Amino acid sequence: MFHLFKRGQTGAKPEDIVELAPDNIPEHIAIIMDGNGRWARKRGLPRIAGHHAGMKAVKRATIAADEIGVKVLTLYAFSTENWKRPREEVDFLMKLPQEFLALELQELIDKNVQVRMTGWKEGLPGHTLEAVETAIERTKRNTGLILNFALNYGSRHEIVNAVREIAEDVRSGKLREEDICESLISGRLLTQSLPDPDLIIRTSGEIRISNFLLWQMAYSELWFTDIYWPEFTESHLVQAVGEYQRRARRYGGL
Ligand code: FPP
Repeated sequence: MFHLFKRGQTGAKPEDIVELAPDNIPEHIAIIMDGNGRWARKRGLPRIAGHHAGMKAVKRATIAADEIGVKVLTLYAFSTENWKRPREEVDFLMKLPQEFLALELQELIDKNVQVRMTGWKEGLPGHTLEAVETAIERTKRNTGLILNFALNYGSRHEIVNAVREIAEDVRSGKLREEDICESLISGRLLTQSLPDPDLIIRTSGEIRISNFLLWQMAYSELWFTDIYWPEFTESHLVQAVGEYQRRARRYGGL
């Protein structure tokens, strides 16, 4: 059984049809949503217009992931390094979760989507946190797609925290050194309740990981595209998953 998806929006030719095997859909897709600024510049618009258009792409990616049968969609919405951006841009980015959820929360609820956040709540403005926490609370019993916003997230900081916590537990005798293993470390990360990402997507032509899910991506497949994030549509997600399905994941074996 195959699901058929058109690569283009209209008039797709037979060679444009992507077939997705429903038994090999990545359980967890994580996306580095890059290129909002360049998308805006290309159009002579301020950077924030790019972020706003990026919010619309968040909706498209969520709907597409849900339709394809993905279980977890993690979106890198704001990194611990993004605080270095100009104040006005940071303020605008911090208003987007609120705006997005005001527009979309009801539909997310109707679609049985569960909203989550991976990142540090400390440092987020009250209005941002309140919007996200309300969405988390209102969707916590939903059993469909997990829409996980990586917000105020940085992977090295996450690992440092986990190491400190483990060191403290060894010092206090709660843990023995020989208890430290991969699953123990995974369990001390902010993503402890989520599977590792099977597929990581980055838009905008940059080929780097930018401090995103460094431990969790050990065996992830990576897919890069030149398109800017605001241009991202369902067909790009289908293309990425199609490519994922053509790869043989060997986890170091043969
Ligand atoms: C990187 O592009 C993008 C970001 C730092 C922000 C991503 C945020 C969104 C896509 C909207 C989030 C929406 C919700 C609902 C949370 P960039 O600004 O670095 O682009 P550039 O490299 O072209 O300058």
